[in-house]
Amino acid sequence: MAEAIAKAFPEIQCTVFDLPHIVEDLQGTENLAFVGGDMFQSIPPAEAVLLKWLLHDWGDEDCLKILRRCKEAISSKNKGGKVTIIEMIIDTQKQDKESIEAQLCFDMCLMSQLGFAKERTLKEWRKLFLEAVFTH
Ligand SMILES: C[S@@+](CC[C@H](N)C(=O)[O-])C[C@H]1O[C@@H](n2cnc3c(N)ncnc32)[C@H](O)[C@@H]1O
Repeated sequence: MAEAIAKAFPEIQCTVFDLPHIVEDLQGTENLAFVGGDMFQSIPPAEAVLLKWLLHDWGDEDCLKILRRCKEAISSKNKGGKVTIIEMIIDTQKQDKESIEAQLCFDMCLMSQLGFAKERTLKEWRKLFLEAVFTH
């Protein structure tokens, strides 16, 4: 995804941040860098942070720690910054039967494989972001 963004927007400097052993052999380009580290310690400064299918791997306490590190990363650029997440939203009211089954299946898989991991409703996502002191 970062490669696609970096290609589509050559004026943007993109960083893929992951654990050191995941990125150590990866080759960057002019506007794409691979940086190793621990997101629970610190996240490289950026104007925008995109977390795709990441927070659902963690329980609420860990999500809050990650979101606080994200907030520090975007605050250090002094431009307001933005954190965007791409995640499933559990919605058993408005969705069709197949979507609901898929949502609940993902939720069960995460719980059985990772313990505290889970899919969340919009209300639960909102609560996490507000607790991590984001405005919305
Ligand atoms: C579910 S994957 C994310 C998938 C990826 N964003 C995608 O869309 O395909 C979770 C990622 O978080 C990374 N990760 C786990 N713990 C981490 C940590 N403490 N610091 C940085 N990255 C971590 C894993 O190595 C893994 O690549």
